Amino acid sequence: MRRAFALGSEARERRHVSRVSTVTEAAQAPRPGAEGTNAPDERKKVHRAETKTKTPVEAKRQGPTLEDVRVDERVRTYIRAANQQTGAIGYTEHGERHATTSADGARFILRSLGHEPRRCELGAISAYLHDIGNAITRDRHGQTGALLVKDILEDLGFTTEELATIMGAIANHEEAEGGLPVSAVSAAVIIADKSDVHRSRVRNPKTTTFDIHDRVNYAATAAEIKVSRKEKLITLQLTIDTEVAPLMEYFEIFLTRMMLSRRAAEYLRCNFALVINDTRLL
Ligand SMILES: [Fe+2]
Ligand SMILES: [Fe+2]
Repeated sequence: MRRAFALGSEARERRHVSRVSTVTEAAQAPRPGAEGTNAPDERKKVHRAETKTKTPVEAKRQGPTLEDVRVDERVRTYIRAANQQTGAIGYTEHGERHATTSADGARFILRSLGHEPRRCELGAISAYLHDIGNAITRDRHGQTGALLVKDILEDLGFTTEELATIMGAIANHEEAEGGLPVSAVSAAVIIADKSDVHRSRVRNPKTTTFDIHDRVNYAATAAEIKVSRKEKLITLQLTIDTEVAPLMEYFEIFLTRMMLSRRAAEYLRCNFALVINDTRLL
């Protein structure tokens, strides 16, 4: 059983919608127990599914949704500020496009592994908010972001237990800040975040002045997360234009992210594979 989530199509990004191409299957999964991923593999086959940035009905009955968070004026303002401020210090795009792509990816990973709808929703919400701390400072933005959203999420009606899950996932998403997978939600956020490498994130308009981060992101023309529940395998599949950036440059800046992604996959009881230009490298 294998499902795939494509990141980074520019046409898609303009609409802030990400699609899931289902390679062979799968819809309604059985509900696992707390943190459980060992439910039987019994999903029905479908030809195509789409990640629900609009939240599933079941999740909505259980509490506030991603949509409630996304339309909150404080969230919108902080994410805009985070994007502006990371741009001011030379980082790639960290705005609503990255937030939405990460949210769709985290939801896709959890749903593909059979997690219950509410946990999938919390994964999408955590991923949507994971970089909001850049509105305060780049350094320790995981921790500042976790604290920044606390009052907002309380106002929106999240339970204290849900707050702890979301805040833990936001605070632990960054490898440079000592982040580690601390829950299934956190693990899904890590993989979704680290998988969003794409040329549309590059803000520097002058290719002649690209630094290594610009070059590697610009070289990535396609990124797709694939999840095989049956094989217990999460795969990041990238297409890299090696005339823009040699693969060594990708590893130079992304190796630590891939190592954290592998730990996150292990938390979800899966192996992690990195495939670049049809060659498996990890
Ligand atoms: Fe981050
Ligand atoms: Fe991020």
